Amino acid sequence: MTDELATIVAGLSAPQKIISPKYFYDETGSQLFDEITALPEYYLTDTELDIMKQHIDEMADLIGIEASLIEFGAGSSMKTRLLLEHLHSPAVYVPVDISEEHLLASQQRTKKDFPDIEVLLVVADFTHEFDLPDPATTPRRNIVYFPGSTIGNFEHDEAIDLLRVMYHEAGSDGALLIGVDLQKDPAVIDAAYNDSAGVTARFNLNMLDHLNREFGADFDVDAFRHRAAYRPDEGRVVLELVSAREQVVSIGGRQIPFARDETIITEYSHKYTLEGFAAMAEVAGFRVDRAWVDPAQWFSVQYCVRDR
Ligand code: TRP
Repeated sequence: MTDELATIVAGLSAPQKIISPKYFYDETGSQLFDEITALPEYYLTDTELDIMKQHIDEMADLIGIEASLIEFGAGSSMKTRLLLEHLHSPAVYVPVDISEEHLLASQQRTKKDFPDIEVLLVVADFTHEFDLPDPATTPRRNIVYFPGSTIGNFEHDEAIDLLRVMYHEAGSDGALLIGVDLQKDPAVIDAAYNDSAGVTARFNLNMLDHLNREFGADFDVDAFRHRAAYRPDEGRVVLELVSAREQVVSIGGRQIPFARDETIITEYSHKYTLEGFAAMAEVAGFRVDRAWVDPAQWFSVQYCVRDR
């Protein structure tokens, strides 16, 4: 058994079954994810973009001239384009992603629309420190960009570790611009992760198809249901796959029993208060200098500077 398969089997053998969200993203999964961000109930993408549009000049002024924009993730979103359009003579744009394929696609689009901005790709797992490339223009400072409230998909301690990596990559005098989803009426959050078109359900269930194909599992995908519920006491959405009946699944030569209604946790999506996020950022060495929110206070974009 490979280490990777052993990790999956261990997760499925725990009292609360769990599989890493990285198995969402095969080709179908990546496509479904793009569809999620365009769903009417999925308020995150539009709200974040609206905040950016509203405050882009102030953001550009805070960031200043000839900055290096280091995006954690392949980039190419509307939000990134908005930033690149408004930044004052950015020195370089550096998208960082584990997938070279996604990076190359993002680079092509960026080069076409911003022919004057140097784009340097970094193929790396951004949860660990990585080396920054050497741009033609020496940047005055580094700005780490992390949109989409992807920080919320990490558990508390991992989120702090990731913020520490960002602190490191920002360097002295650097800053972090980050999208952070906020706690709100649970009905609004539940609707976002249980869209009426069933896209999020397909996205969640696709993980089982992926495991069948890549790891020779024999999940009966029709015997599992999507569940996503916001738990206000935990401040997070828990995404789960619920076994519709008692069944046994085989993977890596192991037989994994499921009781009826037993679940596999596939992802968390944490929602923060402004104070809660500031406290987490502070542990990693950041001070929140500016937090912009939409009128309903559903989402925030936060500018964090290094505090030590
Ligand atoms: N970070 C976003 C969120 O938590 C996007 C996202 C990641 C997502 N994984 C997801 C959305 C799974 C829906 C389902 O909302």
